[in-house]
Amino acid sequence: MLPNDSDILDSQRTLDSPKFQIIYNSADQIQNQSSTDEISFSQMIIGNSRSMSFRQFSNTSEMPQYLLKMTKNQRLTEEKQEKDVRHFEFESITSVVEYCSGDILEVLPGQDPTAVDSFINRCNLDPDVYITVIPKSTAENSSRTDSKLSKSPVKLKTYVELTMDVASASPRRYFFEVMSFFATAEHEIERLQYFASPEGRDDLFKYNQKERRSVLEVLEDFPSVKMPFEWLVQLVPPLKTRAFSISSSPLVHPKEVHLTVNVVSWTSPFKRKRYGLCSSWLASLNSKENKKEVYVPAWIHNGCLPTPQASVPLILIGPGTGCAPFHAFIEERALQSVSQSTAPVIFFFGCRSKHGDYLYEEFWQTHAQDSGVLSSSKGGGLFVAFSRDETKKVYVQHKMKEESARVWKLLSTGAAVYIAGSSNKMPADVTSALVEIISKEGGVSKETAEKWLRQQERIGRFNVEAWS
Ligand SMILES: Cc1cc2nc3c(=O)[nH]c(=O)nc-3n(C[C@H](O)[C@H](O)[C@H](O)COP(=O)(O)OP(=O)(O)OC[C@H]3O[C@@H](n4cnc5c(N)ncnc54)[C@H](O)[C@@H]3O)c2cc1C
Ligand SMILES: NC(=O)c1ccc[n+]([C@@H]2O[C@H](COP(=O)([O-])OP(=O)(O)OC[C@H]3O[C@@H](n4cnc5c(N)ncnc54)[C@H](OP(=O)(O)O)[C@@H]3O)[C@@H](O)[C@H]2O)c1
Repeated sequence: MLPNDSDILDSQRTLDSPKFQIIYNSADQIQNQSSTDEISFSQMIIGNSRSMSFRQFSNTSEMPQYLLKMTKNQRLTEEKQEKDVRHFEFESITSVVEYCSGDILEVLPGQDPTAVDSFINRCNLDPDVYITVIPKSTAENSSRTDSKLSKSPVKLKTYVELTMDVASASPRRYFFEVMSFFATAEHEIERLQYFASPEGRDDLFKYNQKERRSVLEVLEDFPSVKMPFEWLVQLVPPLKTRAFSISSSPLVHPKEVHLTVNVVSWTSPFKRKRYGLCSSWLASLNSKENKKEVYVPAWIHNGCLPTPQASVPLILIGPGTGCAPFHAFIEERALQSVSQSTAPVIFFFGCRSKHGDYLYEEFWQTHAQDSGVLSSSKGGGLFVAFSRDETKKVYVQHKMKEESARVWKLLSTGAAVYIAGSSNKMPADVTSALVEIISKEGGVSKETAEKWLRQQERIGRFNVEAWS
């Protein structure tokens, strides 16, 4: 059943040997792995499968810290808007989630089971065989005590599901080169060799990366290719975790963790609808159509935004999903303000339109009223920029400049500035606006204002969490 690579190689061209060895274990070699409870077993299998890959997936340990159950999946943007941003709530089914506001949740996305099955069928693999994946260097030097050798075998299908991104990420150029050695149809060999050559680079970019063509799609386009599993393990893009800013405060929602997620989708140059793997998978969970219980493997990290002390005034700038960590900060400060005196908070939010994607509008408005933490009576403020409601773009930095005196007043009392969001240019544009404000209100040169901001950064009073 499993392809044999020994007699496929072209006599003219040479191919290195793969960097992995796959050990196929017979049923009697498999210990009774399921002796432990189902949840710990799932965590262990994920850890085991991912630790067998030689690629570093992330900075986290391979075994997930938590398995989360989604308890809420709520669309925040208007139904008729193309932009789909969700509020998700999770509870841990393993240990209680421990985090601080400002932290990051890292999620291992699930893959479409139909795509995984299609990949296994296409590659003529046995989904139920138990495998151990070992780097060749380790296998050849087996006297070395290496933890990779002592890994428990996992089912091939489980390994694919948890470590190999078969239906979302695009493969690299070398994948095409290696494929050309395992193709038997002349026209496919020719095309693959062209893609792998310097002359074919632009066409490969158009066919592969620009179209976000997945490994499964590529293999289906070249049906004569029979690639050995060792090579697939090495060359299929790794299934990567995704980071999200946590939008809940653990003081307000003990045992829960909330996220604010933009569900990524776009249309490719050849008009194919493409979807972000993790955000669209999360959006499919706990929905009307899908009530099946799925556990989300997750880890918690410190991000770039330290938890602010209640006594520190805050200037928060978070357009779009950048508002996520500030949702956590504001609900935390509101809770603190019940039992102690808290410093003022001003928040600059930006979105496309008032009626389309004003995320958590009611939440911010409530805290901006009466004596809420964003209310002017508490020295706070809420300022919102709608970028597409008027002909001229209005962004958060324009609102900051309008509130220049207020921003300066808070900065002068030791406020910490926090910026978060996804735009490539936004953090730099907001930082320049801040420099202008400091320069104008403080009566200093831009160079002095920049220097002062860098000092603030060093002492933890200027913090940026940005993603693209
Ligand atoms: C520290 C940190 C915090 C974050 N916090 C949040 C958060 O709070 N909320 C949030 O929603 N996200 C957040 N992100 C981003 C998040 O990690 C993911 O990158 C995002 O959700 C997309 O993941 P995905 O798996 O859905 O998409 P993927 O499958 O990873 O696809 C995304 C990729 O698709 C491509 N792509 C996307 N749009 C287009 C387009 N229009 N044209 C062509 N190609 C395109 C790009 O290559 C992009 O990198 C954060 C990231 C970091 C690093
Ligand atoms: N597929 C698409 O067409 C598309 C478009 C945008 C974003 N996205 C993706 O959506 C994800 C996140 O969305 P999001 O909700 O967090 O943010 P977002 O919707 O992209 O942006 C939030 C707000 O920030 C504005 N903005 C854009 N550039 C800015 C700048 N330089 N300075 C200040 N504000 C700026 C946006 O205005 P304008 O958008 O009106 O300029 C919008 O009003 C990202 O992954 C991004 O790549 C996709």
